Amino acid sequence: MDNRPIGVFDSGVGGLTAYKELEALLPNEDIIYFGDTGRLPYGSKSRETIIDYAQQDIKFLLSHDVKFILAACGTVSSTLPQKVADALPVQYSGVVGPAVQTACALTLCGRIGVIGTNLTIRTNAYGKAIRAIKADAHVFGNACPLFVPLVENGQFSPKDPIVRLVAETYLQPLRREGIDTLILGCTHYPLLYDVINEVLDYQVTLIDPGREAAKSVQSFLTVNGLLSERQQEGRREFYVTDSAEDFCSVAKIFLQQDVSGSVKKISLS
Ligand code: SIN
Repeated sequence: MDNRPIGVFDSGVGGLTAYKELEALLPNEDIIYFGDTGRLPYGSKSRETIIDYAQQDIKFLLSHDVKFILAACGTVSSTLPQKVADALPVQYSGVVGPAVQTACALTLCGRIGVIGTNLTIRTNAYGKAIRAIKADAHVFGNACPLFVPLVENGQFSPKDPIVRLVAETYLQPLRREGIDTLILGCTHYPLLYDVINEVLDYQVTLIDPGREAAKSVQSFLTVNGLLSERQQEGRREFYVTDSAEDFCSVAKIFLQQDVSGSVKKISLS
């Protein structure tokens, strides 16, 4: 048993898709969420910058004595070197591995699409992880850099003509490749689930990396006897590096709850 909190971090609000799943699966756990909203988006920055940011984010969570760190960010998960993760004093997981496991299990034709930020697609982390499990898979990646700013602005309705146009532009090439499974390789993208499904005519299985990662955190804590013994609902704390108000208003749409009493703006320096 371990009553310490679970730490979750992302560049902004996207990681709340993973947070939400964790909260549902492990209601008695304390969860600390860190969104580096002052420095987002991560996906258009260099590999060196992201490794540096991720290490600062992790240090912040470690200062809160967390027992597990989930990088609920596709870009960090694709970029942070394994040796950095292995050197951490607590268990670390990104979102790539769990999403890839599920995609490989669900694809029927072996043609898997991956969408993500520029950096995520450039690293080909999803492609490499897929082929390590399913050597004969065909992987088709497409960077969708405009998705994150749309989501951060609260724009994800399929009725929004801008959202629709951007989604069609990014997804039609993947559709033409005949994929039957699509990994939403950035934790912001599940907010665009409806428009992505519509553009793909509901013919493609969508994999939500936050959901898969939350399931794998639950399974790790259970198998290793690290669940909290608390009998009541856990404590929730949110930390951001830009406006707490802005975070709260987008978080309200993501979580359908008002978290304003639990959000603090901090500085990492
Ligand atoms: C971003 O900050 O660009 C998106 C984060 C992600 O890749 O999940």
